[in-house]
Amino acid sequence: MSPHPRGSDDFDPRQFRTAMGQFCTGVTVITTMTTDDVPVGFACQSFAALSLDPPLVLFCPMKTSRSWKVIEQSGKFCVNVLSTNQQDVSAAFGAPGDDKFAGIDWDPSPLGLPVIRHSLSWVDCTLERVDDGGDHFIAIGRVQTLGEVLQDKPLLFYRGGYLSTEHPRVTPAQAELENFLTWTGGDTWL
Ligand SMILES: Cc1cc2nc3c(=O)[nH]c(=O)nc-3n(C[C@H](O)[C@H](O)[C@H](O)COP(=O)(O)O)c2cc1C
Repeated sequence: MSPHPRGSDDFDPRQFRTAMGQFCTGVTVITTMTTDDVPVGFACQSFAALSLDPPLVLFCPMKTSRSWKVIEQSGKFCVNVLSTNQQDVSAAFGAPGDDKFAGIDWDPSPLGLPVIRHSLSWVDCTLERVDDGGDHFIAIGRVQTLGEVLQDKPLLFYRGGYLSTEHPRVTPAQAELENFLTWTGGDTWL
């Protein structure tokens, strides 16, 4: 019989963060508008496609996030998937600030929410449901509009730093919809 793989049940938050940092993700900026029409948003890696039918996505905001409070109030949000040249955008939205949109070019989505220019894609969502997730919430949204997909490289986040892929993955135009939900080979997953 082979020994158990080595592990620890006595870990601290730093070790937990290091272990979770091995999971490479993309980076999004999730935006909304205040009741006074001021744009707000924050950088978010905990974004995922959740369901194809109905079309649902999820993200996990910290309970202390100021943008989250506005999203909860407005009941809608726009997910901007960042491209490799948008590291500065991620940095601006990933830190607290009163005017994160200074110097950012954006256009309003059909729901009136900020679409950041040069993002790889975006989705306009209405907030469907919120669950508890420890020191975060799990927010589920219903996709109302799928934005146009740009052919560029994604911005990746790994071990606490930014990465890019070597080559853009060029997809045939008619497959873009399936590729958004990441799998085109069968009907077993999304
Ligand atoms: C690459 C990256 C990924 C992040 N992912 C998340 C996330 O998934 N959830 C979250 O709550 N904060 C995440 N953050 C941190 C928030 O963007 C940061 O705390 C921000 O200051 C929150 O702003 P707000 O208080 O205006 O909402 C991330 C930051 C970076 C740079």
